[in-house]
Amino acid sequence: MNVRIADAVDTLLELPIAPSFTRIGYEVRSLLERWKPLASYDLRGRVMLLTGATSGLGLAAAEALAHAGATLILLGRDAAKTEQVRADLARRTGNDRLSTLIADMGDLDAVRRAAGEVVASHAALHVLAHNAGALHATRRAAPDGTEETVASHVLGPFLLTGLLMARLRASAPARVLTMSSGGMYATGLTVERLEMGDDDYSGTEQYARAKRAQVTLNEMWAARFAASGVVFHALHPGWALTPGVETSLPTFRRIVGPLLRTPEQGADTLVWLAADDGEPLATNGCFWLDRRIRALHRLPTTRRTDTAEQRAALWRWCMERTGLDPAAVEP
Ligand SMILES: NC(=O)c1ccc[n+]([C@@H]2O[C@H](COP(=O)([O-])OP(=O)(O)OC[C@H]3O[C@@H](n4cnc5c(N)ncnc54)[C@H](OP(=O)(O)O)[C@@H]3O)[C@@H](O)[C@H]2O)c1
Repeated sequence: MNVRIADAVDTLLELPIAPSFTRIGYEVRSLLERWKPLASYDLRGRVMLLTGATSGLGLAAAEALAHAGATLILLGRDAAKTEQVRADLARRTGNDRLSTLIADMGDLDAVRRAAGEVVASHAALHVLAHNAGALHATRRAAPDGTEETVASHVLGPFLLTGLLMARLRASAPARVLTMSSGGMYATGLTVERLEMGDDDYSGTEQYARAKRAQVTLNEMWAARFAASGVVFHALHPGWALTPGVETSLPTFRRIVGPLLRTPEQGADTLVWLAADDGEPLATNGCFWLDRRIRALHRLPTTRRTDTAEQRAALWRWCMERTGLDPAAVEP
């Protein structure tokens, strides 16, 4: 297909959210743009850490990466479930370079332990993929008291990235990937109101604030480490039918129904960003959907909130709350 026609169709799809985010967006783009099949990548020798590998998009991504031969560290929060996933994937793909790593991403002590285990067990790390995430109907607190969505989407990944940065740099070219959500388009950047309280708690709003913080931090890591050989990308998967969506968004699941993507379709861009040595390595700090760079803002109201001051405050807040050694994030 002519590239200009594919561009025009992509733009038309992207304007209204629904067709772009559903399986229609995936199916039209993958066909028109003749995407390289994920099954054709050879990832032997690449060491990758994937969080949230036990369900939904993470499980689909793990299967594709294992199939391509990657040395894969599957991070899960439940030891028995994660080991079961490892054993199943090893049997299905024939890949014997799969290991497990146990941590709740909202538990900063567990994240510190997990980072130490990775450094001790793997001499190289080429990809760190933050995919773990959940939307909670009611407010929960992480072990350090931080609201759980913020702890597991923002602080845990920030800390893990910081603690593994030296290993990633030493393994360059390397990539850090963050699975955000299109839900963040509705919400601006906030630091003072990043954690919602008991009185005003809304699971979807809390989730959107955390996802907005994730994409902002992605750009900030990329700018800070621009010359390091490590690239940072955030993405969103569109709308995919996963156990997470079934549990957290039953009404949405009913309405969008058969138009939801499969987990494999939702995970495609994550796997592609981890595997492809073209655009994903040649670009940095971008936000993706369906193998294309997308805008961080769709609304003037959210764009106005995204100021240099808010960004600096967010970085400072993450440093303080995680207790990360500033030397770990020295460019
Ligand atoms: N599906 C969609 O349409 C959609 C849309 C936008 C964004 N996303 C994002 O895509 C990612 C994957 O979601 P999904 O739809 O595949 O959901 P899912 O089926 O519920 O899978 C979520 C994964 O994250 C893990 N996880 C959740 N909280 C964790 C924590 N605190 N520590 C460690 N692991 C944790 C889960 O572990 P357990 O197996 O132990 O529960 C599971 O492996 C999330 O970041 C989500 O926000 C999904």
